[in-house]
Amino acid sequence: MTVYPGNVIWHGGHVSREDRESLFDQKALTIWLTGLSAAGKSTLAFALEKALFAEGRTCYVLDGDNIRHGLNKNLGFTNEERTENIRRIAEVARLMNDAGMIVITAFISPFIVDREMARQIIGQDCFREVFVSTALDVCEGRDPKGLYGKARAGQVPDFTGILSPYEAPKNPDLVIDTDHVAVENAVLLLTKLIKKSG
Ligand code: ADX
Repeated sequence: MTVYPGNVIWHGGHVSREDRESLFDQKALTIWLTGLSAAGKSTLAFALEKALFAEGRTCYVLDGDNIRHGLNKNLGFTNEERTENIRRIAEVARLMNDAGMIVITAFISPFIVDREMARQIIGQDCFREVFVSTALDVCEGRDPKGLYGKARAGQVPDFTGILSPYEAPKNPDLVIDTDHVAVENAVLLLTKLIKKSG
């Protein structure tokens, strides 16, 4: 990769984040959902998006499987590729926050160091970490994509929870176990977190 130090200069615009936030009547925020595959991150993310949209909020979901169909389709699941996955998502979330939007991300994001990188990129002020803490045996029991079964059979390299570790957040802003909390109640908790942050 060629780097051109000093030759790339930031060009500021005339419309600020605050201008956009006041147009949308909201505070830009990133709700970062982390947890095992099949923990319920995407379900919660899209349910939250629906609820916020119905309230007139400008919001968007960045979802792991979906982003890996496009922007990150050249990335696999080694530690390095996961780091790059999270770095790109964090940069996209930062831009979307700068555009005044509420962003909800749904990525396993298994490593503490990567989530801390995301927090740094996005900014502590508008980063909220939500641990979708659904236990491994429950996720494995759900196995909607059959990937846990394949991983146990050694057919999915680096599968999180089986062949690659998941590091739980130490001090998340919210913890939701979808085995014990219904989606509607989880959405209420998430909206409360957003209101508290605004
Ligand atoms: S992350 O670890 O890099 O944050 P991400 O959320 O983007 O993962 O993608 C996870 C999704 O990719 C899972 O829900 C699953 O459907 C699929 N997947 C395929 N291979 C793996 C793997 N080795 N580990 C985890 N998820 C995988």
